[in-house]
Amino acid sequence: MFHGLYALPDADAARADDLAARFALPRLSAPPADGYWLALGDTRLELVTAHGHGAVYADFVEGAARHRREHGGGSGQPVARAIGIKGGNRPSVVDATAGLGRDAFVLATLGCEVTLLERSPVAAALLDDALSRAAADPATAAIAARMRLVHADAADWLAALDPAVRPDVVYLDPMFPDTGKSAAAKKDMQAFQVVIGDDTDAGKLVAAARGAAKKRVVVKRPRLGVLLGDDKPSTQLVGKSTRFDLYTPSR
Ligand SMILES: C[S@@+](CC[C@H](N)C(=O)[O-])C[C@H]1O[C@@H](n2cnc3c(N)ncnc32)[C@H](O)[C@@H]1O
Repeated sequence: MFHGLYALPDADAARADDLAARFALPRLSAPPADGYWLALGDTRLELVTAHGHGAVYADFVEGAARHRREHGGGSGQPVARAIGIKGGNRPSVVDATAGLGRDAFVLATLGCEVTLLERSPVAAALLDDALSRAAADPATAAIAARMRLVHADAADWLAALDPAVRPDVVYLDPMFPDTGKSAAAKKDMQAFQVVIGDDTDAGKLVAAARGAAKKRVVVKRPRLGVLLGDDKPSTQLVGKSTRFDLYTPSR
């Protein structure tokens, strides 16, 4: 069970108030004895458990993000090809299932303007925290400036989108029961998956995305995963463990 937001004694109290208000997170006066909660420390926000292991946070500055930024596959990597990065072409992207923002960060690093939609208050708060740290670091500030977080349900947001500002690409990577992800990845992300749950309503996002995208919809799936929704993709880019299903816009 998820309880709310606990600010450690050395955390910035005003920042905790701001996060709690913007993402409707109950404020906790002490760490709970069980379940999951967001812990704000002096450096970052983390999703933690009572057992003290498996803290999950979003990060665009250090660790894997730094490695990807410095040694990533550039515009040749599968996600870049899937969304149509080619030569100087940098499509605008709505990442409608932003999660911890890893895919969005890759695309923004390559120069795309990315709008990140996230409906879970927990994931949205973690993203907000990672984005503010990235904005404050000279190595990532320009990339963070290309990333805009919107805490909303993508189905509603896409349906209400002003036609004048349709993105080139809508990108979908929902949490799906048959993710086929490795046991290690599952363990690493256990707290996140338990708190967020499966996106069992993700099928309907394909139609909403096809109505919003100007150029294409890209759905990330496990290599052998079932299609998302009822529509048939026009193209499939199949990698070692991941597949990208490409759909044409519906208008
Ligand atoms: C598997 S994660 C995405 C991981 C992400 N691609 C990354 O690189 O970190 C799926 C996320 O999509 C969010 N999500 C699912 N359906 C959504 C919807 N209709 N609107 C907004 N967010 C949604 C979930 O809350 C979850 O955080």
